[in-house]
Amino acid sequence: MAFKNSAFAAILLASLFAKSFAAPIPRAKPLVRRTANAKRGIAFSDTTTTDLSYAANTAISWEYNWAISPPANLPSGIEHVPMQWGKASIENLQDAVEKTGFKYVLGFNEPEQTGQANITATDAASLWQQYMNPLSTSGIKIGGPAVSSAPEGKTWLENFLSACDKKCKIDFLPLHWYGQGSQYFLQYLSDMHTAFPDYNLWVTEFADTTMNNEATVQSFLTDSIQKMDALSYVERYSWFDYSRSTIGMQSNLLDSSGNLNNLGKAYVQ
Ligand SMILES: *[C@@H]1O[C@H](CO)[C@@H](O)[C@H](O)[C@H]1NC(C)=O
Repeated sequence: MAFKNSAFAAILLASLFAKSFAAPIPRAKPLVRRTANAKRGIAFSDTTTTDLSYAANTAISWEYNWAISPPANLPSGIEHVPMQWGKASIENLQDAVEKTGFKYVLGFNEPEQTGQANITATDAASLWQQYMNPLSTSGIKIGGPAVSSAPEGKTWLENFLSACDKKCKIDFLPLHWYGQGSQYFLQYLSDMHTAFPDYNLWVTEFADTTMNNEATVQSFLTDSIQKMDALSYVERYSWFDYSRSTIGMQSNLLDSSGNLNNLGKAYVQ
């Protein structure tokens, strides 16, 4: 329909709107937020929790901090996922997690590494049945132990699952990867999915370890998150990490003042 007189058209449109939408009173619009990405999270262990404000109203939908309780200043709208890092205080887990209404819980952090959770596969399997399994009766989804991409990680996981003898409650499998080249990272995910086909994956730590070459790290980040967004067996991922500095790496998402750096901007958009 073409109107000769645009002023007439405007009046006609205004009257149509007045009729259809007479009642609602205009309200201040909320800030336009970028669409949250259900897969994309942040791994946060910095002490300056006010830095978390830069993740608000972005693609970031969830956060974990290797601990049970959420960090202070976590923006509302970002889901905290608690983690039982190692053996310590595991007897308090059920109480802590159920009280707060969390939907997911993550298990041991790199248990195959002596410098990390350092738990034998057989110990882990019995602790799992005693302390993790009961959470599933409250409907909490349980992430398996998160092994590293060192060869002993996969071996540990095989030993753990075998010690579990199908009695450990696991809903998804978190894993970690560090290296260079997104093609190798994506190949690793594919290999792990083939090796453990019963579980979807969460990639709870990953980064390109290249030093002194921001462009390389950024193209790794962009490529790997785009590919994971399209991979149905990857449920969630969190880059390492949302912090001001990362010792021996340059994959931190914040600059030295706590603002998003270029990597951070690419990750949260
Ligand atoms: C790892 O655990 C073993 C016991 O399983 C213990 O002997 C060892 O000291 C631990 N290593 C570290 C670095 O804590």
